[in-house]
Amino acid sequence: MAVPSSVEQWVSKLRRQQSQPQPQSQAQSPSPATISQSFYTRWARLYDTIALRAPSVGLVRSEAADALRLEPGDTVVEMGCGTGANLPYLAERVGNEGTVVGVDFSLGVLDVARERVRDYSNVTLARADATRPPIQKHAPDAVLATFVSGMFDDPAAVVSLWADLVGPGGRLCLVDLAETTDSTWRTLNPVFRALVRVTAPPGTRTMRESPTAVLDERLVSAHRALESWCRVTHRATHVLGFARVRAGVVEQ
Ligand SMILES: C[S@@+](CC[C@H](N)C(=O)[O-])C[C@H]1O[C@@H](n2cnc3c(N)ncnc32)[C@H](O)[C@@H]1O
Repeated sequence: MAVPSSVEQWVSKLRRQQSQPQPQSQAQSPSPATISQSFYTRWARLYDTIALRAPSVGLVRSEAADALRLEPGDTVVEMGCGTGANLPYLAERVGNEGTVVGVDFSLGVLDVARERVRDYSNVTLARADATRPPIQKHAPDAVLATFVSGMFDDPAAVVSLWADLVGPGGRLCLVDLAETTDSTWRTLNPVFRALVRVTAPPGTRTMRESPTAVLDERLVSAHRALESWCRVTHRATHVLGFARVRAGVVEQ
């Protein structure tokens, strides 16, 4: 468990930073990150409905929170927290003496998340880049990322950074979607590919490679990185094999 006074200092610094105006991008044409931020801001409410009501998604979120082996008083960071669907599961597990930090770079989803956690005094939201989060090394006991790995150009590097952030004994959990390898349900992969194409932020839709191929490749890369850093403690598939959960404890 992280030292409480150091966590308090770091979280209050994060809160102060959030009240400052965010720097505006000077880029001529929008970067993929800017496109994603506009996309998730515009569709935040619709995304929230899916995030709460997709089949079995509540079960997957609860399982992911359990896989982090949180204890009362722990500090947990969710990277790419979106509309905050996981935050209540985390807040309940760490209790009032614990700390939950939700990090996301899209304003619209953070607005929805803020409404969701307004009654939780142990949750702080931060607008920040999950690939270089403004988080003190070894302050978090655990990091969770659900349905986010597919959005990083180099997911293995990002997962390695998170492993370094929690340090030895810290826990990581990833949940991601990819084509199913379950022979019973493989016939549904074309439907999954169509859904990914329709729901991917516009920048990724125009990529010559199929968005699903990119998603699959990034999932494999992120989950392999977790396995290389951690003693794996939990591995499961859900939703006909389309959702993969992997968690572990970072080794020395
Ligand atoms: C598919 S949503 C998942 C949201 C949430 N984890 C959930 O399970 O519902 C992906 C989220 O990741 C965020 N995101 C993507 N790349 C990010 C980055 N580099 N830094 C911070 N947030 C990021 C997006 O803004 C979006 O809210």
